[in-house]
Amino acid sequence: MRETQGETVQVTPLSGDLAFLDIVTEWDIETAYHHWRAAAVVPPTFLPAPLPRVVAICNQKGGAGKTTTALELAMALVARGLRVRIIDADPQEASLSVWLRFFYPESLPEGSRRNLMHLYFQPELTLEDVTYATPYEGLYFVPSFPDLEDVESKQPTGTETTLQYHLSKPDDGIDVTLIDCGPGLGPLTVSALVAAHDVIIPVQAGSGLDVRGAAALNRTIGTVKQRLNPDLRVAAVILTDFEKSTLARQIGARLARAYPDSVVLPARTNIRIGAAQLARQPLRTFEPGATTVLDYDLGARILFTGGQA
Ligand SMILES: Nc1ncnc2c1ncn2[C@@H]1O[C@H](COP(=O)(O)OP(=O)(O)OP(=O)(O)O)[C@@H](O)[C@H]1O
Ligand SMILES: [Mg+2]
Repeated sequence: MRETQGETVQVTPLSGDLAFLDIVTEWDIETAYHHWRAAAVVPPTFLPAPLPRVVAICNQKGGAGKTTTALELAMALVARGLRVRIIDADPQEASLSVWLRFFYPESLPEGSRRNLMHLYFQPELTLEDVTYATPYEGLYFVPSFPDLEDVESKQPTGTETTLQYHLSKPDDGIDVTLIDCGPGLGPLTVSALVAAHDVIIPVQAGSGLDVRGAAALNRTIGTVKQRLNPDLRVAAVILTDFEKSTLARQIGARLARAYPDSVVLPARTNIRIGAAQLARQPLRTFEPGATTVLDYDLGARILFTGGQA
């Protein structure tokens, strides 16, 4: 793993008497609305993931909260002392690579700087060659640029299994790899699903359209499971930008029914997320006490460390 000459900060665990969501086993549809409180659903059948783990964060719908989920979960895991890598598998111009800071080693000449696209086109490269340090201790990043689209249009040999090949190498010191997929179900997203143990599906809590779109994602997950990755599972559905409303409650109930073995986690809304992005920071460091940060912290705990604080 490339270490950095840049300054790194240690992300600390949350402390104090904070307003974490309750953990329940079923989405509550019985309680009268004015008494109802959103909670994280952890079904009795759910088992946290052993490490090391590869997780694809997917929803073909744009703006569902994939990138926010990848970054905030990664920060929560880093605060727990885990080593985390985010792979930016989104060829859009406004992807995480544009605003998350990362460091190319000073010794690396500009012409040798690599990104995810190179991994697909240059079989001699390793994942380490495209992984860079970030300002946060324990967080590593595989950047991408809009030329990643070439992977979709040219589909170099072995596209579907490229990430799986590189991520199934014996221990490289990374505990969790989170793949931030772009909107779409093309070869890059399929490649992420083939490489992953788990899928996390962020869904905009206030959007009925996102729920409908989930059907197409489910078909893709089904096909990948059948043909290329039988053990793939949907570990969690994250209800992003969550505000208590009748609609959000209904959407949560529908998703909990559709994914009875998955965690269903509200990630409460925060208007400062945009300001954090402008400051090129995760919300976790920009506003550590925000409820959204607490929700992703709880998610990290439930999904990766078996519920231990
Ligand atoms: N909990 C939240 N509270 C408020 N805003 C949020 C929350 N989560 C996400 N958002 C906002 O929703 C928008 C879309 O989020 P994000 O970029 O994470 O989605 P995405 O699924 O990665 O989009 P794309 O498909 O374009 O990659 C962003 O402006 C983000 O700041
Ligand atoms: Mg995104």
